[in-house]
Amino acid sequence: MDSQFFTGRHWNARFEGETVVWLNADYANGSANVLSGEVLAELDEALEAIIARQPAALVIQSAKKSGFIAGADVKEFVTLENEEQARLAIRRALPIFHKLDTLPFPSVALIRGFCLGGGLELALCCRYRVAVDDPATRLGLPEVKLGIHPGFGGTVRLPRLIGPLPALDLILTGRTLHAKAALKLGLVDIVTAPRYAEQAVNRLLVNPPAPKTPSRLHRLANSWPVRHLLTPWLRGQTAKRVRQAHYPAPFAVLDLWRRGGDTQGMLVEEADSVARLMVGETSGNLVHLFGLRDRMKGLGRESPFDPKAVHVIGAGVMGGDIAAWCALQGLRVTLQDQNLPAVARAVARAAGLFTAKLREPRLVRDALDRLIPDPHGDGVAKADVVIEAIFENLQAKQNLCKNLEPRMKPGALLATNTSSIPLEEIASVLERPERFLGLHFFNPVACMELLEVVHGRHTSPEVVAAGCRFGQRINRLPLPVKSSPGFLVNRVLMPYLLEAFLLVAEGAPPPVVDAMALQFGMPMGPLELADTVGLDICLSVANNFEKHSGERHLPQYLRDMVAAGHLGRKSGQGFYRYQGKQKKECRVAFPGTPPEEMEDRLFLALCNEAVACLREGLVEDADLLDAGVVFGTGFAPFRGGPMRYLANRGPEPACRVLEKLHQKYGQRFQPDPGWADAQLLERLPQWEVRHEKGNPGYHGPLAGLCPR
Ligand code: NAI
Repeated sequence: MDSQFFTGRHWNARFEGETVVWLNADYANGSANVLSGEVLAELDEALEAIIARQPAALVIQSAKKSGFIAGADVKEFVTLENEEQARLAIRRALPIFHKLDTLPFPSVALIRGFCLGGGLELALCCRYRVAVDDPATRLGLPEVKLGIHPGFGGTVRLPRLIGPLPALDLILTGRTLHAKAALKLGLVDIVTAPRYAEQAVNRLLVNPPAPKTPSRLHRLANSWPVRHLLTPWLRGQTAKRVRQAHYPAPFAVLDLWRRGGDTQGMLVEEADSVARLMVGETSGNLVHLFGLRDRMKGLGRESPFDPKAVHVIGAGVMGGDIAAWCALQGLRVTLQDQNLPAVARAVARAAGLFTAKLREPRLVRDALDRLIPDPHGDGVAKADVVIEAIFENLQAKQNLCKNLEPRMKPGALLATNTSSIPLEEIASVLERPERFLGLHFFNPVACMELLEVVHGRHTSPEVVAAGCRFGQRINRLPLPVKSSPGFLVNRVLMPYLLEAFLLVAEGAPPPVVDAMALQFGMPMGPLELADTVGLDICLSVANNFEKHSGERHLPQYLRDMVAAGHLGRKSGQGFYRYQGKQKKECRVAFPGTPPEEMEDRLFLALCNEAVACLREGLVEDADLLDAGVVFGTGFAPFRGGPMRYLANRGPEPACRVLEKLHQKYGQRFQPDPGWADAQLLERLPQWEVRHEKGNPGYHGPLAGLCPR
């Protein structure tokens, strides 16, 4: 017998066999299941209908290919106007989760693919969890990444199930687990091969084990004295990773856990705490970035381009890693280099990447089979995308591209990974410059999500869209950028790095400059970043900027350091001394006290350049500019990007400070004309900040801010 008795927009339930009900999550408005207010209300109805039929058991699964449930509906967050609305929305959901938690018959969550946030909190309310062993299966509570914490009981139920320390580790870091790791922690009861999933569930229901109860150790660790003893230490550990002022959510989780209480009281406190965070500035900015990530993933979706084969020339740091990444994402890749050992080294690095990401030997072997050394460049004729990543030398790149062009198939893209050569200069030797574009990856390729899709004057719009489609296909975030020196990311980064170099020249010790940037929320200080990139590379990029954009006051000591072979991390010495991968000590110990206005000098230099990029139309709008700078440089995500930072701070006061710096330090701080351009407003769609506390946000026009 197979009879469906509940058919909603997002859920349907049917009897399979005589006694077991299968409830399918099938969100009507998207390809992945999310728990919107409407979805939860309908779940409530479905549960009522199921309870009324008194089945022997309930199995919840997803009807989507993409995964189980991705979490709450983030789009609804931005519609909440104040804390009270947020509190009501969350409190409304609590009885539904409680209903599932207290069903009078066994319940099972069958988890394939992602099971995140509210999705996992829903699964935690089931008596059993069965996870399908597949690389796509990931379980976790990643809410802290959106500036909040679980709100549907996760901070209460997870510590009870797997113990407070493993639970807090998952909640505070937001990291996700594969099926087998979840089994090891006791988060799931069974892991099954995909094709035996239904059988595994049925077997479990025929012979149900006693539901998991917290062990004595877990009960002890959850007791009042242990909580009070452990919390200060956990706060200290958390503070080593993030600052409370920047990311309050993990600290709020620790407060909740320390306070404890009865289940109902804890659930209500969790709801109230998350409501407070949801309307805060950090969460507003992180949710905004989350939306931008989605927007970028959608860029180029309309393009019919369907790349299957890629040819990469240059198997160095970048080319080797680009080739490996494309093979990891399922494309067939041929890798060419004039120097064969470089290809061998790249393949060895790729094997490490595949093992780390895919784990299963069979999948690793398949990925390695897709990465084909190609010393003679036979792959060029079959490739849909040809990417050159050879030395940063105009003539070498021109010669190579000229040679490649006639061998490529029609419709294939010809791309350069250059970081500083204007596209037009390379394209000047091509017969068909309209299919030539920049695909600017960032180092390390496997970690940096951004892909600048650079278009020159000649690049056709279809090719830009195809470039974005390619970015989407290889799971990167494509950002169309107009060709100009440094494109977007390196261009806004350069004035910031130069200012850091100048601060050191004035006497600020490097650790002080870097500490200032960390305090602002950057993942790494500018001087350590320069050491990591390589001072020789910084110098050559800065020289290129000077050539195109005029005098930039590059201090002489930097040239001297490079001449002396102090190139940063790779040579063991730069602004700091290194031993292996470890930073040892400050090498350039200049005397002196930190100059005033250090933070503004660093970050308004960056923001001023960002305003210039926006004025020049390098990217489509302020949102994409923010996304590019955050995903390409790690710019303090909780600030939402440089434009959002200016919006929160107020462009008017920020511009006044810039004007003062201009008076004091000269030309390099002159506010860009963009600050006074009323039309820019049209490109600043997200100026309004909805939180109530703190800065009221910017609502007026930009025009006339800076007397010029
Ligand atoms: P690299 O020096 O590590 O590798 C270059 C490779 O190209 C070498 O293995 C060399 O043997 C090979 N090569 C040179 N001429 C060739 C030719 N005509 N035919 C075949 N192979 C040839 O260089 P890296 O760092 O990988 O940079 C490559 C490109 O990527 C440059 O344009 C650079 O500006 C750009 N880039 C570099 C980044 C970085 O962090 N290193 C970041 C983003 C872009």
